[in-house]
Amino acid sequence: MTAIRSVVLGCGSYLPKRILTNAELAAKVDTSDEWIVQRTGIRQRHIAAEGEFTSHLAIQAAQAALANAGVDAQSIDLIVLATSTPDNTFPATAVAVQSGLGINHGAAFDLQAVCSGFVFALATADNFLRSGAFKRALVIGAETFSRILDWSDRGTCVLFGDGAGAIVLDAQQQPGTTSDRGVLTTHLRSDGRHKSKLFVDGGPSSTQTVGHLRMEGREVFKHAVGMITDVIVDAFKATGTSADDIDWFIPHQANKRIIDASAHKLHIAPQKVVLTVDQHGNTSAASIPLALCTAVADGRVKKGDLVLFEAMGGGFTWGSALVRW
Ligand code: UT7
Repeated sequence: MTAIRSVVLGCGSYLPKRILTNAELAAKVDTSDEWIVQRTGIRQRHIAAEGEFTSHLAIQAAQAALANAGVDAQSIDLIVLATSTPDNTFPATAVAVQSGLGINHGAAFDLQAVCSGFVFALATADNFLRSGAFKRALVIGAETFSRILDWSDRGTCVLFGDGAGAIVLDAQQQPGTTSDRGVLTTHLRSDGRHKSKLFVDGGPSSTQTVGHLRMEGREVFKHAVGMITDVIVDAFKATGTSADDIDWFIPHQANKRIIDASAHKLHIAPQKVVLTVDQHGNTSAASIPLALCTAVADGRVKKGDLVLFEAMGGGFTWGSALVRW
């Protein structure tokens, strides 16, 4: 029994040049490098330049992914871009990326699931590819969270950064086993009862302003590990795999303590965990592909490796994906 799988052909990422250190933040708000490192693991984050938009970051990441995959932009017929910081209210930032890449066929749209955006976008593209509706997709996570931060709120402004990451997915016939290359399973969840624990206090329909990010950090923290581990157990059950089979755990990079606690609860060995939160901060939908590209570029993730993704964020939304590289 064969199956169509969404096989990853390549990945790419982009980080704005400007690096903002904890020490610089400590000069602006009542915080310290020690507090930020101890509570989050973050040491620095990248900040987009004036006039540098989410679409610009996304185009750079997409071009890097296409080059890494060795395929032409014209072979792409689907772009799914996860972002909570679009260039404009509409049209979708994905169409700016499509046009920037010189593509005018197929479909391009944005997807909004905050920090879980990349996993939601991956699952969406995977379902379209497996259905036969599209053949080759760019899945992108791109954010300029620096634009929606309240820089006077020390509880949130120290946590986030800007960046983008992308992968190219190709619909390919595979034998139909868990040894297949490609996306093996995805699991998505949401629970809107928690919508006021992490939100932006503005929007076109409510305030006609962009607004600023607001978070009850402790509340988010409290739910994170349980939600993350639940959807990972779902991925293990769906594929008959276990923590021992995983080569790389590439979680959403929000807080090192959440990542460590999740890996520990699932018995995933610390050396299998890819960590970039120290360098990038929380880049929301971009954090997983940024971490993935780091581990691909330095040779950790190799063809045939089993890679586990997970994310949790505003909504709440959360999800997992198991991919054989
Ligand atoms: O990606 C989307 C998902 N988001 C997350 O996963 C974030 C989840 N939450 C977290 O990562 C953590 O809750 C935070 C890192 C946001 C905060 O860490 P915490 O250990 O939960 O600290 P807390 O909020 O309980 O605050 C402890 C203390 C408070 O002071 P008091 O009340 O004990 O006197 C805060 O006012 O730390 C204070 N505090 C700070 N101190 C120095 C809060 N922010 C800062 C700061 N610098 N930047």
